[in-house]
Amino acid sequence: MPLKRVIVLFILIGSGLCGFLFSLHLHHAETTLPTDTTIETFHYPALFVKQLAGDPLAGEKIFKEFCASCHSPQPLIDVKAPRVGDRKAWEIRRKLGMDALMQITLHGIGAMPARGGCFECSDAQLRATIQYILAYPATSSSSQ
Ligand code: HEC
Repeated sequence: MPLKRVIVLFILIGSGLCGFLFSLHLHHAETTLPTDTTIETFHYPALFVKQLAGDPLAGEKIFKEFCASCHSPQPLIDVKAPRVGDRKAWEIRRKLGMDALMQITLHGIGAMPARGGCFECSDAQLRATIQYILAYPATSSSSQ
């Protein structure tokens, strides 16, 4: 067989093999994604919430993940949400009672989406998150 043909044959087999190996790699990446524990949970709210089962800090973690964008002392989105630590803002709402606050949170109010945007959270988890908000220590920088 002339040398030129051998080289061409080599290239053909080589590139075919590369493609095959690459497709294996892609297939592998696809099938391992849901069970990979190192993935960013931010994009997987259902997985994030599932991991919080029995976690005593669930309320705080849910707050940071779903509510802080509007309710933190320095919110990412300023939609005039009552900020945690704003004693005055929460004192009025505390008087409504836990059941009323739960109903408002479940259905949403004004700029706040239903369930505070955590559609995967259970009622008990949302209740724990509201308790975390109500127990948040008062900060000096009162907003409203
Ligand atoms: C997109 C912004 C936004 C997000 C996200 C958000 N909230 Fe709110 N929330 C608001 C605003 C605005 C109000 C004030 C509504 C009003 O009083 O008109 C509010 C009010 C509340 C209140 C008091 C109810 C009342 O009558 O004012 C509770 C309790 C509450 N939010 C809980 C939560 C919880 C828990 C989460 C996360 C699971 C959450 N919120 C996420 C915007 C948000």
